[in-house]
Amino acid sequence: MIKSKLPDIGTTIFTVMSKMADEAGALNLSQGFPDFEVSRELIAHVSNAMKQGHNQYAPMPGLLFLRKSIANSLKDTYNWNGDIVTEITVTGGATEALYSCITAFIHPGDEVLIIEPAYDSYIPAVRLSGGVPVPVQLNPENFSVQWNNVEEAITEKTKMIIINSPHNPTGSVWSKTDLIKLEQVAIERNLLVLSDEVYDRIIFDGLQHESVLRFPELRKRSMAVFSFGKTFHVTGWKVGYVVAPDYLTSEIRKVHQFLNFSVNTPIQYGLATYLADINHYQNLHIFYEKKRDLFLKRITGSRFKPVKCSGTYFQLLSYAAISDKDERTMAEYLTKEYKIASIPVSPFYSDQRNNNILRFCFAKKDETIKKAAKILCRI
Ligand SMILES: Cc1ncc(COP(=O)(O)O)c(C=O)c1O
Repeated sequence: MIKSKLPDIGTTIFTVMSKMADEAGALNLSQGFPDFEVSRELIAHVSNAMKQGHNQYAPMPGLLFLRKSIANSLKDTYNWNGDIVTEITVTGGATEALYSCITAFIHPGDEVLIIEPAYDSYIPAVRLSGGVPVPVQLNPENFSVQWNNVEEAITEKTKMIIINSPHNPTGSVWSKTDLIKLEQVAIERNLLVLSDEVYDRIIFDGLQHESVLRFPELRKRSMAVFSFGKTFHVTGWKVGYVVAPDYLTSEIRKVHQFLNFSVNTPIQYGLATYLADINHYQNLHIFYEKKRDLFLKRITGSRFKPVKCSGTYFQLLSYAAISDKDERTMAEYLTKEYKIASIPVSPFYSDQRNNNILRFCFAKKDETIKKAAKILCRI
């Protein structure tokens, strides 16, 4: 008999709901992936790289060409002036970056603060290293961070805090004041900061993304994780990167080199060329803000109540006025009966709490959004 290391962990809710959507023939607004075309130019860059013979292992930390393009985009956006060779590592999606960072630093018994609701890969990764996840809830009214609760949760054993802004699943974002507070707390309590910034370019209403990279003292103890999947609509390519000071990067790479070694070479070439043009990412927020607004406009008059979404491509909708079913049951019911799939928010909490809220992904063609809204208005 084997003894499971994660006996209570099942299949992720994203897989469960996408499968249910397929089986029911439902419109799938559950898992976060676009249903529109990827740039033909980006695909051409990748296929050219293949034709030119770039088909063998890339260097372990990532192609220098790609790391240069990343560095330029970070300089341009966050005024980042770090070292390309020792501070950027290209990974198999943000998921691998997060896993490598957690594995590199968490020893058995170390406590890790997780801000909930939380993306579902953090807790299992902490537990696989023998760490102890310590959940701290966002304010349930508006999903802002409650600093008193964060500070109260810190003990002698706290090693790391994992943050995520713009935030999946709620669409809330951290303000500059939050980052200043984070910097102060991290320094005072000697914490490492793992900052999941995969939606950094998807932020609305004129807000600016407050990356840990903007704060020089915070940067010295932070790992910032990004994903090309989100920025270039290529979630299936699974390429991301982590930016961290050299003393952290050297440890992260010890894990990365045996977890993945190196990332898909032709895709790295393609991304490097494509990323070099600022026009390919600087207006992404406008593109998605229009989709958010279209979705919100079209569901006006429905019985769903939107929660404010300031970033990401997810819109939370409360169905409290419609049903008191728990979120999983409601998501299943809507998928099977109304042919529209969403994601319950309860699996993002370690205690699976229910708030009668579902998450809808609006990274979809306008016609998909309109169809979805029409269904929601009937419920
Ligand atoms: C908050 C968050 N972090 C990390 C990831 C994983 O990104 P990737 O697909 O690049 O591994 C996702 C994907 O949905 C996410 O929403």
